[in-house]
Amino acid sequence: MSTTSPLEQVPTLAADLTRVEAELHESVQTDNELLKDIASHLISAGGKRVRPGFCITSAAASSVEFAPAEHDVILGAVAVELVHQGSLYHDDVMDAATTRRAVESVNSKWGNQHAILAGDFLLGRASEIAASLGTEVAGLLANTISQLCDGQVRELEYLYRVDRTEESYLKSIDGKTASLLAAACRIGGIVAGLERDRIDLLTTFGSAYGLAFQIVDDILDLTATDEELGKPAGNDMIEGVYTLPVIRAMAHGEVGADLRQLLGRPIDTTARDEARELVKASGALRSAHADARRYADQATTAIDPFAETAGGAALKAAADHLVDKVESLIV
Ligand code: IPE
Ligand code: IPE
Ligand code: MG
Ligand code: MG
Repeated sequence: MSTTSPLEQVPTLAADLTRVEAELHESVQTDNELLKDIASHLISAGGKRVRPGFCITSAAASSVEFAPAEHDVILGAVAVELVHQGSLYHDDVMDAATTRRAVESVNSKWGNQHAILAGDFLLGRASEIAASLGTEVAGLLANTISQLCDGQVRELEYLYRVDRTEESYLKSIDGKTASLLAAACRIGGIVAGLERDRIDLLTTFGSAYGLAFQIVDDILDLTATDEELGKPAGNDMIEGVYTLPVIRAMAHGEVGADLRQLLGRPIDTTARDEARELVKASGALRSAHADARRYADQATTAIDPFAETAGGAALKAAADHLVDKVESLIV
């Protein structure tokens, strides 16, 4: 599993992320030993820390050089990572996932009830931290949590439906993924006191990057292995989540009808492998990848006005890297 940040060229980031780690562990302290164990499970397991990295890097979008992040920026980074992790606890219940970040998932280890409550606990702790950063950040984070729920419910609405449209997919990933990446960048900008128009452009960057990020994640589900991902690969079609490449393949003139015939119901791994081959044969992976590149390009265009700043240049490099890294996996 990749645990490296896409912002690894930022010289001060490793030290800042070490501070984030300490605050993350601090944030889940409670005298309830069981809750503490469950809530710290994924923090200890690692992860790329993309959202904290974007929060911290966005804060440097008016500086010519990187400097260690202000404490409030670190707290903003912790809040967005806690929301992310809370959403992963809930997501793994929804997707019946058995692994996450290369360790046993929380739902698998402690059961769904504990996973849901510990996920709520993480959202609660994120909200406390956000409140300490002011009403604007608190309101923004609360609204983002609402959007995450909206996106996930939109996904549920189309489970096992071969008539899922690209429009419904985009609306879902906008809520479940792009909203938090947008919030990560926006909070970095707000807490660092950047100019309003710059904060808005960072938000546009995060949102477009988030769409590209989820499309890439959905391509990886169809092309990578469990070991590479640290979470179950090929799980989306089994769980009835038909993502962009699958929706496109289902609309394909030749293989579309065969694929629609296979899908639309719970399937075993043999049918899943057959469906995956049909998706690959349709060319839909390449076409979905082109969409990811288009969103990544929209992201970088948004921050063009400050591409010369330390933060702007690093965010642009991260967006380019995101789509390049999966290119070789596409047949
Ligand atoms: C996984 O996010 C959930 C998605 C939005 C696809 P990440 O790929 O950032 O997961 P971690 O934090 O590195 O584990
Ligand atoms: C990602 O959901 C979005 C959230 C966690 C809210 P997915 O189900 O697409 O992500 P993975 O593949 O399990 O990480
Ligand atoms: Mg999932
Ligand atoms: Mg999911």
